[in-house]
Amino acid sequence: MTISDIRAYQILDSRGEPTVLVRMFSDTGREVTFAAPTGVSKGLGEAVERRDTNNPDSFRGQGVAEAVDLVQNHVAHKFIGYPLGNQTDFDSLLVALDGTPTKERLGSNTVVALSGAYLKLSALELGKEVWQYVSELMQTTPAMPRIFANLFNGGQHAPGLGIQEFMVVPKSSKPLEAITQIYNMYHTIRPIMENLYGASALLVGLEGGMAPIGATTEVVLEALSQLNGKMQNSFDIAVDCAANSLYENGSYNLDGGQYTTQKLLETYASWQAKFNVTSFEDPFAETDPDGMTVFKAPRPFLTVGDDLTVSNRSKIEEFAQAKIVDAVIIKPNQIGTMSETLAAVNAANKAKLKIIVSNRAGETNDDLIVDLAVGLGAMGIKVGAPNRGERVAKYNRLLQIERDYPDIAADSQPLKGASTIPTDGTLKPRRSE
Ligand code: PGA
Ligand code: ZN
Repeated sequence: MTISDIRAYQILDSRGEPTVLVRMFSDTGREVTFAAPTGVSKGLGEAVERRDTNNPDSFRGQGVAEAVDLVQNHVAHKFIGYPLGNQTDFDSLLVALDGTPTKERLGSNTVVALSGAYLKLSALELGKEVWQYVSELMQTTPAMPRIFANLFNGGQHAPGLGIQEFMVVPKSSKPLEAITQIYNMYHTIRPIMENLYGASALLVGLEGGMAPIGATTEVVLEALSQLNGKMQNSFDIAVDCAANSLYENGSYNLDGGQYTTQKLLETYASWQAKFNVTSFEDPFAETDPDGMTVFKAPRPFLTVGDDLTVSNRSKIEEFAQAKIVDAVIIKPNQIGTMSETLAAVNAANKAKLKIIVSNRAGETNDDLIVDLAVGLGAMGIKVGAPNRGERVAKYNRLLQIERDYPDIAADSQPLKGASTIPTDGTLKPRRSE
C-alpha cells in the first residue's frame, strides 16, 4: 500500500476563485481527490496560501499555477512509493519540505490538499470510511455532530448585515431530523423576509444564507427567535460575529452604531436575554486589547474561537487557559496538515473545549469535514445553509452516513462550555485585572 502517483490541478472554488485539487493514486489502482477550501474572513494567525500574486494574467493574481507546479515538480516525486497509513510521518515530511512557520513556501492550499488526499487514500486502502479511520487515529468515539446551519449571511460574506453568520442549531443531532427542521426554518423564514425587504431577501451570500438588504441584527434575531418559539424551541441560535471585520480605530461598527468592547459584551448579553442567542463566535477582534480582559468576565453564553484560535494547538492552549473560549472551530486549512489539525483537537479536548468542525466561505464539493466531525465525535459542524451545491454536499454526506451507519451515537451535546458561567441575568464585566 504505497502512493503510486500524485497529480495537482488548478480548479475553481464555490466563489469561482482558483484553488488546488490533488489527485492521489495508490499502487493497487485506487485514487482519491481533495481540494483546498479558502477563507474570506481569515484570522491573522492562519497559515498562508500560495497564489500567483506577481502574475496579474493568472486570474488577476489569484491563480494557483505556481502552487500546482510546486506539487507536480518539487513535491510529488518525494512521495512516490511512500507507504500509506502514516499520517503523522507524511505530514511531518510536508511541514519540513515547506520549512516556514506559516506554510507560505508550499502554501497552506497545497499542503492541505496533499494532507487531506493522503488521509482519504489511507482510509480507502485500509477499507475504512474516513470517519472510522479518524476515530481510530484519535481514539475518539464517533458521534453525529449538531448542525450549525447558517441561514443569514453578512459581514464579508454578503452585503447588508454586519454580523457574518446567523445560525440555527437543531437540538437533535440526528441528521434527517435536524435537516428536516433546518429545511422547514429556511423555507418559513424566506417569505417573511421577502415581505419585509422585497426581492433582495431571496438572494444568498457565500454560504447560501439569506442576505436581506436593509435588515438589522435585531430584526433577524427576532425572526429566528419567534420561529423557534413556534417550533417548540427545537433549536439554539448561534452567531459568528467575525468581529475582526467590525473593528476599526478602537471600536466596533455595527448596524450604524459604535460600540466599545464592554458595550459590545453587554449587547451580546442582551441578545442572549431577548432572543436566546446561546453561542457567539469570535465576539471580539484579535487586535482589540480589551477583548482578552472583558471577555474573561462571567458571560451567559458560549464563546467560540475561530479567527482567534485558527486551529492552532498553542493558540488554543493559550485561549483555553485564559478562559476566554468555551469551544473552538476546527478548519484544517487554517493550520495546513491533518496531523496539526488533530493536534489542535487534542489540545481542545484536553482543555475540555467543545469542538465545532467548519466549512469555509470559499468551499469545494468535498465532504471530508463531515467525516472529520463524525470521527472526532465533535459537538458541532458548520455547513452553511441548505442551499448551494458545495454546502449541500456536506448535508448529503451526513444523511448518507446516518443511513449506512444507524448505530452511530446521536446524543447531541448542549451548547454549554467548561468556562461559561451561568448567571441570574445580571452581568458584571470587569474592565481589566
Ligand atoms: P471564512 O468564514 O471561511 O471566510 O473564514 C467562516 C467562518 O468565519 O467561520
Ligand atoms: Zn468564524
